[in-house]
Amino acid sequence: MKILIGTKETANVSLVFKDGDLKDNEVYKYITEKDLFKGKEGEVWTTFSTDDNHNFILGLGDEEDLNLEVIRKSFYNLGKKLMELKVESVNIDLTLIKDINNEKMALAASEGLIQSEYSFEKYLSKKKTKPSLEEVYLNGDGLNDKEIQAGIDEAIIVTEGIFLARDLVNEPALVMTPTKLAEIAKSELEEVGVKVQVLGEKEIEDLNMEAFLAVSKGSSEEPKFIIMEWLNGSKEDHKTALVGKGLTFDSGGYSLKPSKGMETMHSDMAGSASVIGTMKAIAKSGLKKNVVAIVAACENMVSGHAYKPGDIIGSMSGKTIEAMNTDAEGRLTLADALYYAATVVKADRIVDIATLTGACVVALGDITSGAITNHEGLMEDVIESSFIAGEPVWELPNFKEYEKMVKGHNADLINTNSGGTGAGTITAGLFLKEFVEDTPWVHLDIAGTSFIDSSRGYLPKGATGVPVKTLFNLIKYN
Ligand code: BES
Ligand code: ZN
Ligand code: ZN
Repeated sequence: MKILIGTKETANVSLVFKDGDLKDNEVYKYITEKDLFKGKEGEVWTTFSTDDNHNFILGLGDEEDLNLEVIRKSFYNLGKKLMELKVESVNIDLTLIKDINNEKMALAASEGLIQSEYSFEKYLSKKKTKPSLEEVYLNGDGLNDKEIQAGIDEAIIVTEGIFLARDLVNEPALVMTPTKLAEIAKSELEEVGVKVQVLGEKEIEDLNMEAFLAVSKGSSEEPKFIIMEWLNGSKEDHKTALVGKGLTFDSGGYSLKPSKGMETMHSDMAGSASVIGTMKAIAKSGLKKNVVAIVAACENMVSGHAYKPGDIIGSMSGKTIEAMNTDAEGRLTLADALYYAATVVKADRIVDIATLTGACVVALGDITSGAITNHEGLMEDVIESSFIAGEPVWELPNFKEYEKMVKGHNADLINTNSGGTGAGTITAGLFLKEFVEDTPWVHLDIAGTSFIDSSRGYLPKGATGVPVKTLFNLIKYN
């Protein structure tokens, strides 16, 4: 779909608030009098004509409740309806939306429309989603074309990053191996100017990443350590590391998952997919920032070579870990990736993104990502970025009392709770904190939000691409 500024002789979309007024619109008068249409958020009315000059009315809900998320969702519904009716071009009059700046409004509206075209149907013999919209013309009284264009451009780039992340996650583990993930990171990112370096098992051994390697040992797929660099800011500017959990399959290892829990564990690399998608968007936008994305990609499998519950393993940092539960593998791979980010990349701030704990799904469901930090300032930036993205994040407490729950008995640390119960998301986060040195750091647990059982708003069933928008905003505005 092309999103343009202007008008054309074609179908028209009018926007209206709930119980609002659409002056001179006879259809609107009729359908509201008959109680056929209320103007609720995302409600679409269609008047079809044989000459393709159809008229659509899109409800935006209560005027006082209007925000970016309402615009995204409403325009997503509009996009779906237009596709269903095989409409190829429309004018959309945005005059009604006055309280939101032009750029943000165009960004949200364009995002919603583009989101309506996403599907993962490459393995379906018969495609279900057939995008029809070729041209969308945005217009309205007193619009600032430059701002509107900036919003459109950002929506195109960011949705591309989101869709890339979704595609990576939706691929089955059979296809999306660590090697494949590294290959795609290379092919997708090098073409937009990101420097991508991929380390194999030997080089990972040379770095003493014993915790990462312990997890990978049971698999016949080679682990890959992927480093993606976008250093487009000045040398004095801060450098951000985005570290994504990259378990291309998590069987649980010898602490084997039950079959139901294993079904979607190809999605245990959603953190890595989100950082790859974000890097694509950052580079395509040409942001003048320094960002390094890091992924320790491997599989967690069962075999004669696999690590075992109770094994005491080392790590790049030198800290030793009792691997009491082989299903708490994400924090082991991240331990080395985070230590690398802190000491080799020498990042000024680190955000890690991980499908880390089932406990997070219990606490926050699939609506909100959990967060833990060692730096409240960075946390505020992440939460603000997530808020404007429409990707809710909630900070969990990091009180000292929780810290002793990650201390080991026969080793420095333990990968499950020791001498305490519950708080699985917090203790997983505080385990990671042990490896970031003093670097300001935020951990995002996306176990619930990155992959969902049924579609919600513009988020499809399966991979959601959360939190690409949050990470993009964090880099762009901070
Ligand atoms: N990948 C899982 C977490 C997960 C669960 C992600 C559900 C998405 C949906 C992680 O590796 C895991 O298994 N964590 C364990 C930790 C426990 C053994 C301390 C868990 O949450 O049960
Ligand atoms: Zn696990
Ligand atoms: Zn996992």
